[in-house]
This record gives sequence, C-alpha cells and structure tokens, in this order.
Amino acid sequence: MRMVEIIAAKRDGRALTTAEIEWVVQGYAAGEIPDYQMAALAMAIVLRGMDDRETADLTMAIARSGDMLDLHDVAPLTVDKHSTGGVGDKTTLVLAPMVAAVGLPVAKMSGRGLGFSGGTIDKLESIPGFRANLSAEEFRRAVREPGLVVAAQSGDLAPADKKLYALRDVTATVESIPLIAASVMSKKLAAGADCIVLDVKYGRGAFMHTLDDARQLARTMVAIGRHAGRKVTAVISSMQQPLGFAIGNALEVREAVAALCGSGPSDLVELCLVLGSELVCMAGLRDDPDTARALLVEALSSGAAWEKFRAMVANQDGDVTTLDHPDRLPNAPVQVDLAAPRAGFVTAIDGQTLGFVVNALGGGRVRKEDTIDHSVGLVLRAKVGARVAAGDPLVTIHAARQSDVDAVAERLANAYTIHDTPPPSLPLVEEIIR
Ligand code: URA
Repeated sequence: MRMVEIIAAKRDGRALTTAEIEWVVQGYAAGEIPDYQMAALAMAIVLRGMDDRETADLTMAIARSGDMLDLHDVAPLTVDKHSTGGVGDKTTLVLAPMVAAVGLPVAKMSGRGLGFSGGTIDKLESIPGFRANLSAEEFRRAVREPGLVVAAQSGDLAPADKKLYALRDVTATVESIPLIAASVMSKKLAAGADCIVLDVKYGRGAFMHTLDDARQLARTMVAIGRHAGRKVTAVISSMQQPLGFAIGNALEVREAVAALCGSGPSDLVELCLVLGSELVCMAGLRDDPDTARALLVEALSSGAAWEKFRAMVANQDGDVTTLDHPDRLPNAPVQVDLAAPRAGFVTAIDGQTLGFVVNALGGGRVRKEDTIDHSVGLVLRAKVGARVAAGDPLVTIHAARQSDVDAVAERLANAYTIHDTPPPSLPLVEEIIR
C-alpha cells in the first residue's frame, strides 16, 4: 500500500477499507508514516468524513496499536469518564474523586491540552511534584489503592492516538466527528474500564458547535463502546460559555479544590453530579439517578471526595500541602481586570476565543513540543446573564508580564457580548444518551 494513494482516496471522498485503515494506523505508530502524510490524511478526513464502519475500524485499529488493559485482577469493576473537550472543563478533577469516594475504582487516562481546550494532565501537573507518567504496574496498583488514578496516556496505551492527538492539535484537524470518536473511544477501550460516561460538549467553547453534531458524536461513541462490550452513557452538555469561572491550569485546580471543599461553582458541581449519577447507576450501586445523586452529594459534603483527591495526588507524588494552601500553587505575577465597556447584561461569552487567549498567554501549546506556563489564565468575573455597570470587571487576566496582557486585551473584550436585555437561560445538560 502507498500512503499517498490512501490520502488521495480520502481526499476524493472514497471510504477507506479496513485493511487500509489498519495499515495506516500501524505504520504511523511505528514511525514509518511521517507526520506530514498523516496530517494530510487527517485533514482529508476532517473535510470528507468517515462512515460508521470506517470510524469503528479506525477506533479498533488505534486501540490495538498498543496494550489493551484488563483490570479485573485488581478490581472487579472500574469506571472511567471522558470529555470531548471544552474551555474551563475541570470536571474530572471533581467527578473522579467523588465517584471513587462512593466505592467505584476510577482508572483514568487523560490528555493534555488540545487546540483551544485545556487538558486534565496539564492541570494536574501544576501541582508541584505530581507525576502523571505512571508505569503499567503503578497504574494497576493505584486502581486498587487509593482506588483512583488519573494518569497521562502511557506510551503503551493507544500509542497511535497519542501521536495523532498531538499532531491534530497543531494542524487544525481536531474538529471532526470520526477523528474525535476514534480518539476518545480507542483510549477508553484500551484503558479497560467496564463503565464509561462520556461528556459530549457543544457550543462555542467546544469542538462540536451545534447540538446536532454533538448528538451524532455521542451516538457514534456510545455505539462503538457497546459493540465492544462496555456500558457507555453520553451526557450532552453545553459549552455555550466556559464551565465555572477559572480557565488555565493552576487556576482550574484551585477551582476544583474549592468545589471538593464545598464552595465550587454551581454549574461545575451540577455537571459532576449528573455525570457521576450515570456512573453510579451503570455500575449498579443505585437503580436511579436521583438516589445515585444523593450518594454523591453525601460524598462531597462529608469530605470523602476531598480526601480521595488528596490521596490520589499523594499517591502520584504531588505536594498535598499546595492543595491545603492553594495560594501555593503557581501564581501569575501580573493580574489585571478587563472592564466592561458599557452597562447591560452579558448575553454571550465566546469560550473558544477565551481558550485561545489562555494559549496566547502561555497556558497552552502552539507546537507539540512547547512547554506551558501553569500559572497563567483567566478568571471570569461576570458570566452569561450577569448584569454589569460600565467599568465593572468582566474577567481577570493572569499573565507572566504586562505586555502579554496588552497583546490579548482587545481580543478578550471582543469575546464578550453585552446587551440591554437579559439572555434566555441556558440549559447545562441537553440530553442523556443511554
Ligand atoms: N478528546 C480526545 O481524547 N480526543 C479528541 O480528539 C478530542 C477530545
């Protein structure tokens, strides 16, 4: 087979065969297919799409490009969660300990930032000492005790996705239903969890801008998971504005700590309760989402979820004193408020722009080998629906230097829309596909 012919076939809209997909994925993982050819194929897939059979083939080929974990010797049942990516999405940091605290072992491999959206591993690495790269043995031990592990995708797990994910991040090839579905589900299948909840986001701060696209992505992923014998539910949630108030790695860890200690933003906590209830029901701990929710609320209010989070961070060599004193997490030296240009109601916040602004401040990557500044980011002071007077702070910019603030201020101001009348209220959870 020749890669150039496969690229041309997809460019011209032909469905790739199972054998072609397998050959490409193996060749790319083995380093025989160069990044530039894989990027060209990814772009052809973005533009031409893939049918269900191709998407399932791509998922299985990526999953089988490395080890397929079986965790049943360390825990009879494990759960996992994945988000399709959004701005300010620190859900894993709150949800995973909550669910682990009610007795469901969480075995989670997470990603780094992708495009305008942050990544859980980058966030956790703002905790000094935190080790996201675990050996397979360490991963398995952590599933047993403390019953919660959030690790970077190991080199042995879906290695083809690891390479492709980083390549897509810097080649504008993220926004594609088949590529996202295959990326997410290959990792989930390879990581071995029995019950998986997917947080499929839509809106300006997500890769899927419309509800229809989010629904299609959700159905595709649920079907792939079920076909592979896993329990999978997808929650379609809104990213019409960032989740919570903080965007940026250390800032989001602070917000997650607040949520685990009982003072988190209501949208973040609500989403975690909805996602967590699905996991509790799938795992058979409770029969219906209401009683599942009560169990999780108790885990949060009793401090059990917070203790689980501390135990996970300690187990992965993170400095837990920075969690007890979050002001010791990386702090940006320059903090400047951006003022509302006029009075009115905030009717829209363009999350995608905010995500790119955080990248421009140094909080995300432009090239895949870039290092990031964990301290920088944004803290929203007014969210959609808020009434502001002219001059009120809309957002606080946390930056390494004043010139960075100056470089992003205009773009940031344009991300806010202010009108005389209040906007309709936005549902956080649109639907659940079970
Ligand atoms: N999350 C992933 O793991 N992969 C994607 O492609 C997008 C979000």
